[in-house]
Amino acid sequence: MTKGCDVAEREKQRMAILISGNGTNMVEIIKAQRRGDLRADVAVVISDNPDAPGLRRAVGFGCRTAVTPYTTGVTREVNERAILEAIEQADADWIVLAGFMRILSGDFVRRFPGRIVNIHPSLLPAFPGAHAIRDAFEARASYTGVTIHIVDELVDHGPIIAQEEVPILRNDTLEALETRIHAVEHRLYPQTLQALLCLDF
Ligand code: GAR
Repeated sequence: MTKGCDVAEREKQRMAILISGNGTNMVEIIKAQRRGDLRADVAVVISDNPDAPGLRRAVGFGCRTAVTPYTTGVTREVNERAILEAIEQADADWIVLAGFMRILSGDFVRRFPGRIVNIHPSLLPAFPGAHAIRDAFEARASYTGVTIHIVDELVDHGPIIAQEEVPILRNDTLEALETRIHAVEHRLYPQTLQALLCLDF
């Protein structure tokens, strides 16, 4: 597929970004791509949540979008069909989870071995789950952080490709901690994606 790390010389990789909420990480990825700091195309932004603020942001950037709401009473595999279709139509090479709050099925993960990336707001394996920042804060940990990893079939699990520690300060508030963690995420995710996609040859 790609020939080496001279990204200017090779065909660009295509990312499908999956979101469920605010999409602030997605915005930083799009901005990095537009600045030329991330040599990969945002092929499509997919949201399982029709009301996700990130979806409006993606439209504002002129990105192709797909809304793939989950319905209850059917399997994950059935719910994922629309996601797979959107990925296929956009011809994406990489699946970039940016605040996508659904657990992907084993079937889905096995279709894209080593090609699904996730960002999580803790130093995994500490504080997995949907409320990682709050959980670390309430546990009175002295530090937490950000992890970027390849997704495997377990939840918030898989080979770690980047981690950065964020201290929890003596007089911290949850809001202040969240702001500092998001600032690290917004810098680390585009940088790590650029490094990862550059190594992919
Ligand atoms: C981010 O903090 C991300 O790490 C977290 O959701 C937030 C999404 O923010 N993801 C998880 O907790 C995954 N387990 P954003 O929608 O503004 O990018």
